Amino acid sequence: MASSIALSPSTVPGQNQLLRSSFHGSALPPSAISLTSNKQIHHVSKTCLKITAKFDLKPPPYPLDALEPHMSRSTLEYHWGKHHRAYVDNLNRQIEGTELDELSLEDIILKTYNKGDLLPQFNNAAQIWNHDFLWESIKPGGGGKPTGELLELIERDFDSFEKFLEEFKSAAATQFGSGWAWLAYKDNTIGHPRPSEKDRKLVILKSPNAVNPLVWDYAPILTIDVWEHAYYLDFQNRRPDYISTFISNLISWEAADLRLQKAKVEAAEKAKEKEKKKTEDSDTDSSSSESDSDSE
Ligand SMILES: [Fe+2]
Repeated sequence: MASSIALSPSTVPGQNQLLRSSFHGSALPPSAISLTSNKQIHHVSKTCLKITAKFDLKPPPYPLDALEPHMSRSTLEYHWGKHHRAYVDNLNRQIEGTELDELSLEDIILKTYNKGDLLPQFNNAAQIWNHDFLWESIKPGGGGKPTGELLELIERDFDSFEKFLEEFKSAAATQFGSGWAWLAYKDNTIGHPRPSEKDRKLVILKSPNAVNPLVWDYAPILTIDVWEHAYYLDFQNRRPDYISTFISNLISWEAADLRLQKAKVEAAEKAKEKEKKKTEDSDTDSSSSESDSDSE
């Protein structure tokens, strides 16, 4: 049993470009082009060599029957093999030749998100991201309880692990129709005039259809898919049974912990950037006011 997992590029905002490649320049011999086997060339112009690779259907990090008896091979065959695949195929078709063609998955999600009238490209891009994230949120022999800082934060922000479970279950059960429930991390100290440790917190969210917390600037830590296609073959319409099984037997708390650590590092970097910009801006302001007074 793995004690930790390697998070995919899809869990690293801004790095999903690794799933794709692009090259612009004068013609190179084919031997100079190195693409891994899961990338496909889909556009080569005559005047300028331009190669972009399509998004790939990334497999779960375990065999399709590895989650049995809690999630059947048939569910994975349909959920990953058909539904997830369709999102990838649709998006590749929809972005070909458009301005979205060379963007990372995260950038497509953020660029196409518009309240109330979500574009098909948003839905497919977000569903690819959500499913890549889902497969790594679970593992064979999962469930149990987190440890260390993740557990401490859960206990601080939800009073107890049991209360967190109650709230997470309730969010997943009450999401009307298709959607997702999430545990996410939000750093509200960035730009706050009086930042405090309490402003860095874990929250539970639910989202309809393909929407995910990236569009609200939250860092997702864990998710459960509550579209019917996620559980119907194994549980028919018994969504609460699926949610309980998912929590007790499938969640990978190691993956959640790695994501929390990553979210904290990214938030610290963002805060540092912001501070640096503020200092630069105030330096510029003071030097321009000095030169104004010199010229008077
Ligand atoms: Fe799904």
